[in-house]
Amino acid sequence: MKNVALLILAGAVLAGCTTGNVKVSDFSSVKGYTLTNKNGMEVKITNYGATITSIIVPDREGNMADVALGYDSADQYVNALVRDYFGAVVGRYGNRIAEGKFSIDGKEYTLATNNGENHLHGGLMGFDKVVWTAQTVENGVKLSYLAKDGEEGYPGNLMLSVTYTLTDDNEIVMHYEATTDKATIVNVTNHTYFNLKGEGSDTVLDHVLQINGSKTTPVDAGLIPTGEFADVTGTPFDFRQPKVIGKDINANDQQIKYGPGYDHNWVLDRKGGGLELAATLYEPKSGRVLEVFTEEPCIQFYSGNFLQGNLTGKSGRVWNRRSALCLETQHAPDSINHEGEAGWPSVILRPGEKYDTTTIYKFSVK
Ligand code: GAL
Repeated sequence: MKNVALLILAGAVLAGCTTGNVKVSDFSSVKGYTLTNKNGMEVKITNYGATITSIIVPDREGNMADVALGYDSADQYVNALVRDYFGAVVGRYGNRIAEGKFSIDGKEYTLATNNGENHLHGGLMGFDKVVWTAQTVENGVKLSYLAKDGEEGYPGNLMLSVTYTLTDDNEIVMHYEATTDKATIVNVTNHTYFNLKGEGSDTVLDHVLQINGSKTTPVDAGLIPTGEFADVTGTPFDFRQPKVIGKDINANDQQIKYGPGYDHNWVLDRKGGGLELAATLYEPKSGRVLEVFTEEPCIQFYSGNFLQGNLTGKSGRVWNRRSALCLETQHAPDSINHEGEAGWPSVILRPGEKYDTTTIYKFSVK
């Protein structure tokens, strides 16, 4: 396959496989894939959690750096002190569901709770912690996972895939597809942590961010949306014009205090239903630019507030608080508990329907 190299990671994994609820037998099939393009850009992916482990891109002088937080082997993902979804696909429902409870067609479901009283990023053994089936495709890899009826409390056997491809325009294309045999909810996203100076650098507070969204969904102290929409005008959340992330991150603002910092959902100002630019991240020193295009209605900007400087990645450098950020395209957190309300697009997938959504991370320099 052109531009796709395969590396078997199984040996490294078996050695460190100590987590109680992980099936050791699964790990014989852990693999790593390296995608490269004609510009020398290199992306590494493993089928453990459908995880992007590395993204190497040039700065404006042509110097390469790895701009994604990650580890070299799957056992490090399994055994990390804090498993913060680094680079993984999160789901079946990305972000939070209040008290892990929701209903579909009048039937109540209770999910595993793993974030205080709430459900976060798919639960105790979400999609970031399972081994996906891998198949190489042209310029990429297709990862598939069958989430069983009842897994983490979700209804329906969900057949899900994400196809990662790398283009010669320095785009990582992420195409998600899913079907179910029972009405369920789906909201998957990629959870890569970026630092455009290179992973393990100091904070991202000097990065300049623009988000094409004029409303957020404000949260309570547990980071669950209140159900309201807030206009960003005159608030720390106004990123409609490019703004340095550090400018308002410690503002005296109740929402910022809840973060603490940015950990919020922006409703995108969309023109239609196709791929549109959601956010642009720029790092002035290196000149690196990341543009996020998506078909999704919203984006979560998480400023790495929970990183604590107690983890080191593949380069051996420490990941300090706010030394990386995530831009997670999605439906709003807890959407299922606002099903049918104005401004809350449905997250229900029914038998016979297809979940089909694409997000692109595009890299350039200026
Ligand atoms: C983000 C979420 C944060 C935190 C983080 C993982 O997506 O918005 O609140 O849970 O993932 O530490």
